[in-house]
Amino acid sequence: MLVSATEMLKKAKEGKYAVGQFNINNLEWTKSILLTAQELKSPVILGVSEGAGKYMTGFKTVSAMVRAMDEELGITVPVALHLDHGTYNGCYKCIKAGFTSIMFDGSSLPFEENIDKTKELVNVAHQLGLSIEAEVGSIGGEEDGVIGAGECADPNECKQIADLGIDFLAAGIGNIHGAYPENWAGLSFDTLAAIQEKTGIMPLVLHGGTGIPDDQIKKAISLGVSKINVNTECQWAFQEATREYIEAGKDKEGKGFDPRKLLAPGAQAICDKVKEKMELFGSVGKA
Ligand code: 13P
Repeated sequence: MLVSATEMLKKAKEGKYAVGQFNINNLEWTKSILLTAQELKSPVILGVSEGAGKYMTGFKTVSAMVRAMDEELGITVPVALHLDHGTYNGCYKCIKAGFTSIMFDGSSLPFEENIDKTKELVNVAHQLGLSIEAEVGSIGGEEDGVIGAGECADPNECKQIADLGIDFLAAGIGNIHGAYPENWAGLSFDTLAAIQEKTGIMPLVLHGGTGIPDDQIKKAISLGVSKINVNTECQWAFQEATREYIEAGKDKEGKGFDPRKLLAPGAQAICDKVKEKMELFGSVGKA
């Protein structure tokens, strides 16, 4: 059931668990995530980066596919179709294409411009019933060409953005996209606690969910994180399962070259990874 992410994240914040945002790349990814959410009775957020949207031939295609799949599979758990790290123009494209949620990432802009554009998009999104995420303090690393330095957000700036009426807030707390380096200092819980204190009931978003140790994930949830984004770990799971299949020569056995067979181990690996994360985040049975 396609919905905005507002209610599911409000409930998550109150219930002290987090809803996973899993990024999608194609039909297999989408199907694996939807089926796992349904099986586990968990709410879920499908994240679409601008790069992935382009890869899938455009946001209209993505929206049509997700809506049709949601119906054909009889999905009854709440599903939000969310733009990940959207530009100003990308947000408008997704609103038009039928997404149920957008993220405007103005973190690389001068703060005043981030405020102005976020404010405008909050009004447009809410008029049409979409939820909206904003960002303060860039997330480190690189995702689909979006490169961030990974600074910790200023809690006062977080409060100013939160006061614009956004539905959930991404704030840098030492997290980065992709693999964490060996010498990573870990999440800054002092920053997270200060942001939580300033922003109160606002659900907070933890980007760069890949590779964060379980104890840090649990602590982050206890300090107000209600949405956790995972992308790279699903890619690794898919890659490893596909590699195993080919290295075992299974693509050469019988009709093992059939794409439905070739992609099946990777699709199953995504189901398993999403299940593991939903259990860790505490969203199982919360739909
Ligand atoms: P990872 O690729 O590090 O899991 O980050 C995902 C993310 O934050 C998407 O916005």
